[in-house]
Amino acid sequence: MRSETAPAIRLEDYQLPRYRIETVFLDINLDPTETRVCTRMSLARTAGTPDGTPLELDGDDLSLTSVQIDGVPLECSAYEASPEKLTIKAPPAAPFELIVETVINPSANTQLMGLYQSSGTYCTQCEAEGFRRITYFLDRPDILSVYTTRLEALANNCPVLLANGNLAETGRVEGTDRHFAVWHDPHPKPAYLFALVAGDLAKVPDRFTTRSGTSVELNIYVEHGKEGLCGWAMDSLKRSMRWDEETFGLEYDLSVFNIVAVSDFNMGAMENKGLNIFNDKYVLADPETATDQDYANIEAVIAHEYFHNWTGNRITCRDWFQLCLKEGLTVFRDQEFSSDMRSRAVKRIADVRLLKSHQFPEDAGPLAHPVRPRTYHEINNFYTATVYEKGAEVVRMLKTMLGPEAFRAGLDLYFERHDGEATTIEAFLKCFEDSSGRDLGQFSLWYDQAGTPVVAAETEYDPARQSFTLSLTQEIPPVPGQKTTRANVIPLRFGLVDPNGTDLTPGSVDGATVSGDVLLFDQQHQTVTFKNVPVPPVLSLQRAFSAPVRLNQKLSEDELLFLARKDSDPFNRWQAVQTLAMQDLVRLTSAIRAHQPVSPSEGIIDVFRSILSDGSLDAALKAQALTLPGEADIAQEIGKDVDPDAIRSARESLRSLAGKALSGQLLQIIEASPAGAYSPDAEPAGQRALANRALHYFAVSDASGVSALVADRFKTANNMTDRLAALTLLVHSNLPRAAEALAAFHDRHQSNSLAMDKWFMTQATAPLKDAAQVVARLMDHPLYDPSNPNKVRALLQSFASGNPTQFARVDGSGFKLVAESVLAIDKRNPQVASRLLTSFRSWRALEPQRSALAESALLRISSCEELSRDSRDIVDRTLQ
Ligand code: PHE
Ligand code: ZN
Repeated sequence: MRSETAPAIRLEDYQLPRYRIETVFLDINLDPTETRVCTRMSLARTAGTPDGTPLELDGDDLSLTSVQIDGVPLECSAYEASPEKLTIKAPPAAPFELIVETVINPSANTQLMGLYQSSGTYCTQCEAEGFRRITYFLDRPDILSVYTTRLEALANNCPVLLANGNLAETGRVEGTDRHFAVWHDPHPKPAYLFALVAGDLAKVPDRFTTRSGTSVELNIYVEHGKEGLCGWAMDSLKRSMRWDEETFGLEYDLSVFNIVAVSDFNMGAMENKGLNIFNDKYVLADPETATDQDYANIEAVIAHEYFHNWTGNRITCRDWFQLCLKEGLTVFRDQEFSSDMRSRAVKRIADVRLLKSHQFPEDAGPLAHPVRPRTYHEINNFYTATVYEKGAEVVRMLKTMLGPEAFRAGLDLYFERHDGEATTIEAFLKCFEDSSGRDLGQFSLWYDQAGTPVVAAETEYDPARQSFTLSLTQEIPPVPGQKTTRANVIPLRFGLVDPNGTDLTPGSVDGATVSGDVLLFDQQHQTVTFKNVPVPPVLSLQRAFSAPVRLNQKLSEDELLFLARKDSDPFNRWQAVQTLAMQDLVRLTSAIRAHQPVSPSEGIIDVFRSILSDGSLDAALKAQALTLPGEADIAQEIGKDVDPDAIRSARESLRSLAGKALSGQLLQIIEASPAGAYSPDAEPAGQRALANRALHYFAVSDASGVSALVADRFKTANNMTDRLAALTLLVHSNLPRAAEALAAFHDRHQSNSLAMDKWFMTQATAPLKDAAQVVARLMDHPLYDPSNPNKVRALLQSFASGNPTQFARVDGSGFKLVAESVLAIDKRNPQVASRLLTSFRSWRALEPQRSALAESALLRISSCEELSRDSRDIVDRTLQ
């Protein structure tokens, strides 16, 4: 077990390695309880390492069998071994060969880090520090080695033996019932990219011919019987490979690319070189069990992991502080891929929704940290929305500022200069400085300062001078541990919209650098004057969400209504609708808290009406525009003294007004929803999204037969998207047929674990008084499994983060349930527990009664003495 109070690791303490490991030969004899691992490494001192510098290899829960140097077993006095460390006291001066043997127990590995078993299949997870749970090693990403892996296992149990790279040899172990395979990966890589898989799996094969004519073997490995569910993932993989060639000139570099789907996985998926391992949720799909959102997620995650082959694997991180070097850049790349496959505007809206709902609260709470943190206790806790999503926004801003050509030239230079290296954010930015001739010193603050900048914008039109003045102010709100901040460089895309909806071209601009439609706002305060502006325009600012900032722009309701109808930027049309809705929701929430009568404004209803009948908008965009800000988004906007029940009532009152006022139009849309064979493509998916959005409003209209209509949609649905939408409505609105529908869904899908996750999640997120009891009861359901991370996420995580009124119940039962679960799960799987624990992060923003309850739940966790390092870190920071 790990110690609780490990010292903080600091970026400024980084030191070059004293030794390097050039080649690694792993011989792994697989056995459920006693796997023998023999590691032969060629080691050498790095330049400047003094004589007698001990070699300290990392371990985690290891037991050592033997250790040799250059063929000679080491005397006991020559080394020290503990489960966490192997120290060779005085290694030879010349390069030498070290052989280390360890024994590990994969069947007892419940953390799902290192070598473990998922439904009998052996698999590994080594990022970030899991390799040290397999063998003693220099387990840090700047140690790049060439790996050869020999796997041996029972031939009957494990007909499939996979590791990184290309297959070199296979055979029977003579005189036994075992067989072996040898894999060789010619590309030097850090240990966190090592992987192996062994088991009895079905293979779905395909091929891809690269741009330069190499034929690559593609395989997806899944449980037997699931072969038919891999078509979409394979199709997504081939499209990703083609796209990376066409968009960035990047080709695949091995003769085989393997993907394995497993059902027990802590995260989404892992980019191990040539052998990606996936949470099966991001591989398996058919219309019967997967929603349109699942299809889109699979496409994005397959692409993400594939794109890591260049951004992460060929060029990796020097240390874990540089995590965003691979993650931010790779998220940016997968977002661009999805935009090219689907509608760019709709994808942008979805990404911004995610950023605002996950990253903004993180950045505004006790767990805030810079995109590149400077310190950590447990690196597993830094796979965050800030590193991933804000990290992607920073790369996007770079492109916005430099323009597409200089951006592409900078990336080309990055691949040319750093291929085969473990590098840093500084080196990355230097490539863009060199390609563009620009100084990115100030820009680099985006990596170092935590907190979401708030930008205030005010405008004034002077008819006599025909000038339009924009006053900008930026500020980063206080963040724990961050004393001073400096002004960021904020690229603001903008348009000056004339009364017809056309963008004006101003004569000249004073006070800021403007290129095309991008204005650089790089001081604390800045006044920008546009000249020769013949009519008073409406300023459409931060178009396409060009920077991850909160914008406070004083627009009148009329101006917002105007932008919602006329802005040429579809993102800002959507944003204007959201802002209108948000203003109303905040107003309604305070009215409810003050026990005043509530009456939602009619303006938003008119906007909804005109959006629904706008022939120029596609269905997916309409569905996005009609989706009100979420309860957590409203809470965030309110910022303090939050009462989740009042927020929910406010949102429901607006929903019900819209449902009643628009019922005729809504019904038409519902009835026009796509019939016939299912296709996951963007177009029909958008139509389904719109129809289900319409149903969501229609369900609270006065129309007769509403609940029969929803129940009927549930019964007749020919795909999971529509079935789940109807089920969610029935359950969340507690309609008469809810129990019956839940039972029917259960019976239909009980043999499919991923579909049942949706069944658990629907109930866990129901905003009903008994939700906490229902969740507690479902934890005893035969299909619930606390050791399966997907199940924990479906039931507990979705309750804690997707059911704000019931998680934060005034009787404290929601917090209590989650706190107890965190403690129970922590013993088994610290990563899953600490993730669940982050759902408390906004506790201080709650009204006093609820925040006191949350605090005592947190204190209860904190008082537990055997807490994992992962959970200790989160609870300490959350309470600080
Ligand atoms: N590197 C993985 C990804 O982004 C995520 C991951 C991290 C998976 C740690 C497992 C463990 O794609
Ligand atoms: Zn990634």
